[in-house]
Amino acid sequence: MEKIKISISDILRLKGKRKITMLTAYDYPLASLVDKAGIDIILVGDSLANVVLGLDSTTKVGMFEMLHHSKSVTRAVKSALVVGDMPYDSYQVNTEESVANAQRFIKEAGCDAIKLEWFDKCLEVTEKITKAGIPVMGHIGLTPQTADKIGGFKVQGKDAQAAKRLIGQAEALEGLGCFAIVLECVPDKIAKLITEKLKIPAIGIGAGINCDGQVLVIHDLLGLFERYTPKFVKRYANISVEISRAIQNYRDEVMEGKFPGPQHSFTIKEEELKKLEE
Ligand code: KIV
Repeated sequence: MEKIKISISDILRLKGKRKITMLTAYDYPLASLVDKAGIDIILVGDSLANVVLGLDSTTKVGMFEMLHHSKSVTRAVKSALVVGDMPYDSYQVNTEESVANAQRFIKEAGCDAIKLEWFDKCLEVTEKITKAGIPVMGHIGLTPQTADKIGGFKVQGKDAQAAKRLIGQAEALEGLGCFAIVLECVPDKIAKLITEKLKIPAIGIGAGINCDGQVLVIHDLLGLFERYTPKFVKRYANISVEISRAIQNYRDEVMEGKFPGPQHSFTIKEEELKKLEE
C-alpha cells in the first residue's frame, strides 16, 4: 500500500491526541528503517558532526555536509516529515544568508522543514525564514551550537528566572509561526509548563514525559555511538556489539580460507577452461 506523506498540519493536529515520535537519521539505510517503523518526524540533525563524522562539535559541519546527508535521507523517506537542521554557520554566522540557506534544504535536498537553535538573533532570523514560507522548528534549552555561551552541556531553566526566559523564547517562536519546538535538557516540570502553554507541539529530549513528543539521536538509541552517552538516552539495542561480532567472523573466515565458499563464487564451463589452457 502506498504510504501517505505526513504534513505539517498532521503534526499540528497530533498535539493533545497522541505522542509525536521523532528520530534523527543521516543516511539512506537508517532513514528507510526509521520511516518504515512509522516514526512521524525524521531530523537530519547536525549531530551528524559527532555521531557520523567524528567531529567534536556540531559547529564544525556546514551546508555541504548537511545537504549531502539530507538528500540521502529524503531519497529513502516515503512517509515521515523530514526536517533539515541548519548548521551553525548557515544562520548564526551568516544571518543575511539564512533564508537562502533554508531554501536550499527544501529545494535542493527535498526536506519538508528546517530546524534552528536559539541564539541572540534567533527571532529576527526565524521571522525572515517563516515569512519566506519555510516551515521552522525551533530548538531551545540546551542548544549545542552555543553551548559555550550557556554554561556548557548542562540542564537549562533550573531557576525561576532562567525558566521564565525559556517560556518567553517558546512563546515568541510560536508567535513567529514555528510549527514545533524542541526542548532539550529542561527540568520535566518546566517542560510540562511550556508544553501546556503552547498551541504547537513541544518535542522533548531530556525534558521528561509530559512533552507532546520525544526525539533521540538514532545512534544513541541503537548503541552505535560509544564516545559518550547523555543521561537522557535510553539504549534500545547494542548494535556495536553485533557489528563487531560480524566483522570478527569475516576476518577469521578470510584468514582461515573459509570465505568465500562455493555458493559465493562464480564458475566457468570446463570446456572453456580447456580452450584457454590450449
Ligand atoms: O542535531 C540533533 O540531533 C538535534 C537533536 C538532538 C534534537 O538537534
